[in-house]
Amino acid sequence: MTASPAGEHPRVLLGVGGGIAAYKVCELLRRLTESGHRVRVIPTRDALRFVGEPTWAALSGEPVATEVWSDVAEVPHVRLGQGADLVFVAPATADLLAKAAHGMADDLLTNTLLTARCPVVFAPAMHTEMWEHPATQANVATLRSRGCVVIEPAVGRLTGVDSGRGRLPDPAELFEAARLTLVRGGAPADLSGRHVVVSAGGTRESIDPVRFIGNRSSGLQGYALARTALARGARVTLVAANVALPDPAGADVVRTGSAREMRDAVLKAAADADAVVMAAAVADFRPAGYQDVKIKKTHGEEPAPIRLVENPDILAELVLSSRISSSAEPARRQVIVGFAAETHDVLQHGRDKLARKGCDLLVVNQVGESLTFGAPDNAAVILAPDEAAVDVPRGSKEALADVVWDLVAARLE
Ligand code: CTP
Repeated sequence: MTASPAGEHPRVLLGVGGGIAAYKVCELLRRLTESGHRVRVIPTRDALRFVGEPTWAALSGEPVATEVWSDVAEVPHVRLGQGADLVFVAPATADLLAKAAHGMADDLLTNTLLTARCPVVFAPAMHTEMWEHPATQANVATLRSRGCVVIEPAVGRLTGVDSGRGRLPDPAELFEAARLTLVRGGAPADLSGRHVVVSAGGTRESIDPVRFIGNRSSGLQGYALARTALARGARVTLVAANVALPDPAGADVVRTGSAREMRDAVLKAAADADAVVMAAAVADFRPAGYQDVKIKKTHGEEPAPIRLVENPDILAELVLSSRISSSAEPARRQVIVGFAAETHDVLQHGRDKLARKGCDLLVVNQVGESLTFGAPDNAAVILAPDEAAVDVPRGSKEALADVVWDLVAARLE
């Protein structure tokens, strides 16, 4: 849980729109209250057709109202908005997005959206056609331009038999989005309008159908980078290699296996990106030949050696193509961030690697079997050419991610 500026439990207004995904928001509400947030649910009239007032009241432990006409003496539409640390609207229907974009105020939720001065997050859910309609997209663009975070809906099964973009992301990930927005304590969504690409996890190079050469990367740092960028308003493409983690709400996740697959996915996504962060552990080598049948035991004879060949260096390719495009179009320069995992002489290897790779920032951390891999925390030194190193003391991977985005945002200005 995060404390509100007054040091009290954060106050969240949970706006619920009239969509079938309202049932998933019960789970989000439960996660918020169980982690110590004080939550007032403000459903629309139509939201109550899907989930009734007693459910919201019981799960929040607070009264529930939809209209401005209850408790009028307390002027609730002003008091609630003014006192909130976060307004989170889920599911945000096409109608609710339109009303919010145009400043309409015909119930308690839409009135509250006009009086709130805290961060506002919308999690839309609707059919693909409604989401893609130019009217909805224009409303989303308006809300984002005003500093609201609008989470991209997920792709998958919709209400009927059809599937496509329009699903409400999983409640656990919506909770993460709410939590990370609160951690920022009202700081502006400074990556709004930016597209960032993050690679995460560890590549695997197949030897035969059952074996591979891999590494210990869990993907946690890359996912923390993706989640924090989303909370700062960025559009995020997350290129993940062999990661067993749920998709962050709003991220466009591209799953890859080998270094060559990751290269293709990263270069494709990077074409229109403002920043690329290579947090993935990419295998430097792959077996020269893939055996399409399982390699069998040799029963005493020496096994055939596995010959390795070098993989493409994705970071180096990114730096090269960004230099070429920025010499043609100086305004299009990307910020490129590398990670370096070192087991010893961390600073020296880091400085050498920064010079060799030519990226804008290099996040160097010390690794070992029990350090960093799979752990929730991390410590690092961030290097930039001709600048003093930024020391990031041991803390959460999200805290490190936020320092990286601070440095990226400063370079994008
Ligand atoms: N990287 C990459 N492509 C590769 C290898 C590494 O894009 N084939 C990226 C990683 O994602 C990371 C950075 O380069 O951001 C540094 O990775 P690291 O493995 O530490 O560096 P290497 O260049 O492989 O150097 P070495 O293994 O010699 O330490």
